[in-house]
Amino acid sequence: MIDFKNVRFTYDGQHYALDGINLHIEQGTFVCILGGNGSGKSTLAKHINALLLPDEGTVEVLGRRTSDPESTFFIRSNAGMVFQNPDDQLVASLIENDVAFGPENLGVPSPELRERVTEALKAVGLQGFEKKETNALSGGQKQRVAIAGMLAMQPQILVLDEASAMLDPRGRAGLMRVCKDLNEAGMTIVMITHFMEEAAQADLVHVLDSGKIVLSGTPEYVLGKVEAMEDLSLDIPFAAQISNRLRQVGVPVKTQVNEDYLVEELCLLLKGGAQ
Ligand SMILES: Nc1ncnc2c1ncn2[C@@H]1O[C@H](COP(=O)(O)OP(=O)(O)OP(=O)(O)O)[C@@H](O)[C@H]1O
Ligand SMILES: [Mg+2]
Repeated sequence: MIDFKNVRFTYDGQHYALDGINLHIEQGTFVCILGGNGSGKSTLAKHINALLLPDEGTVEVLGRRTSDPESTFFIRSNAGMVFQNPDDQLVASLIENDVAFGPENLGVPSPELRERVTEALKAVGLQGFEKKETNALSGGQKQRVAIAGMLAMQPQILVLDEASAMLDPRGRAGLMRVCKDLNEAGMTIVMITHFMEEAAQADLVHVLDSGKIVLSGTPEYVLGKVEAMEDLSLDIPFAAQISNRLRQVGVPVKTQVNEDYLVEELCLLLKGGAQ
């Protein structure tokens, strides 16, 4: 559904921001892209909806090549993008106009448009917010309006480029919940983040470094590669640090990325030991 084949891309003709990317993202999956500053995450994201085109190799989205000008409209309306700064993304002062902006440009007629706005706001937990002013919202709510604006176009893919970076922990958790719900309803989610706790909740994690994918796998696999992650200046989730330390001293626990699971596993071990 999203297919990068040997993709290279340079902004300045000297240094490759993407340097041989091979990446396949299955329909309906929740994928996280991790990487330090300047590793190429945003450049990769912009290749998914044809904002950037590869210099070498190909990107296919939903069976269409991003380099084919006739596919640009289809790809852009099916791969919604949400960026870091909530204030950069809202275009209208009234929420309903903001959410309607995308589908209106797609030519969706008026009665359906209203329905889509209502549905999209409901999906992000902002039902009844139609007549509110966008500038009266918190950062987290603004990001949810930005997502609603994408949902109103009924895309199959949602790409979030550090969309939670400017939010507080509560706003981040709310955004994650919305993404998980959308994913459960069948949407493909590509979340770019440097928060390990977010990556821990994905189906698959890909780690970028200097324009290359250097690690790929389940969160347990990737976040368990402590040394590799530290070399890339990426933090390891607290539960993974503790479970790795415990294993080093001979306590037989798995690499856990979720604190609750680690507690559960330790409780089982302790209970087993007491019998
Ligand atoms: N518009 C641009 N013009 C020139 N070089 C750029 C441009 N945008 C990014 N780059 C360079 O391309 C490389 C990858 O940048 P990119 O923005 O994709 O990284 P990133 O992983 O998203 O970083 P961050 O975590 O800071 O958002 C970096 O070396 C960066 O300096
Ligand atoms: Mg970026």
